[in-house]
Amino acid sequence: MAQLNLILLGPPGAGKGTQAERLVDDFDLPYYATGDILRAAVKEESELGRKAGEYMERGDLVPDEVVVEVVVDRIDRTEAEDGFLLDGFPRNPEQARALDDELSRLGRELTAVLLIEVDDDEVVRRLAGRRVCVKNGHLYHVELDPPKREGVCDQDGSKLVQRDDDRSDTVKHRLEVYRDQTSPLAQVYEERGLLRRFDGSRSTSEVHDHIRATLATLRLESEL
Ligand code: AP5
Repeated sequence: MAQLNLILLGPPGAGKGTQAERLVDDFDLPYYATGDILRAAVKEESELGRKAGEYMERGDLVPDEVVVEVVVDRIDRTEAEDGFLLDGFPRNPEQARALDDELSRLGRELTAVLLIEVDDDEVVRRLAGRRVCVKNGHLYHVELDPPKREGVCDQDGSKLVQRDDDRSDTVKHRLEVYRDQTSPLAQVYEERGLLRRFDGSRSTSEVHDHIRATLATLRLESEL
């Protein structure tokens, strides 16, 4: 079967994690979200977490040398042989180059970069209301996608919390970092014919249907 080597790109709160939860089930892909990996490391107080924590709290990017290693290690795993879904990586041109180098070392290439687009006002609204399950990271929104019982995850009954970097001043800074350092990657991937754009302001299921249909077509085309 053809590989699906995928990147999810988009501003904070675009819905990358929300869509990833669904796409992982659809296409049975290993999912590597650098934000989730780093947050877990901070919680465990591991060496990686100690290196990353202060940057994350401010909404700045964690240094490339710390993050690149995390991703390179994962895409070389047996579980990722048929593809992977990267979320939150690459986030600047240096990380994109490191990913290209690693893929070419493995004799592989990117299949597509999925860009979910939403405007800043919507980002602020979504992140102010986002709640995350402490156990498995399931995502909710207090108005747009509320759990059945306030503060409790529908899927595993664990507590729902707000992320430290979802405070409004940090969200504004994360948006600036995205605009300055990450958004230029869209043009880079567009020029390489890899970029697929999705209107993230639509409902969760509409965005999902659109991405799923696009990926199904890409997979079919690559198998022809
Ligand atoms: P990371 O965890 O990657 O955060 P992010 O990119 O800012 O993205 P988010 O997780 O905030 O948003 P999302 O797009 O996944 O939205 P979600 O689906 O949750 O990174 C955090 C930090 O880690 C960085 O700031 C940095 O410090 C560090 N880091 C990570 N990777 C790094 C790297 N490569 N290099 C250096 N540093 C790195 O949805 C948001 C909300 O909206 C939810 O409540 C959801 O229910 C709701 N929602 C989603 N879709 C819809 C919809 N269609 N309609 C209505 N509501 C919706």
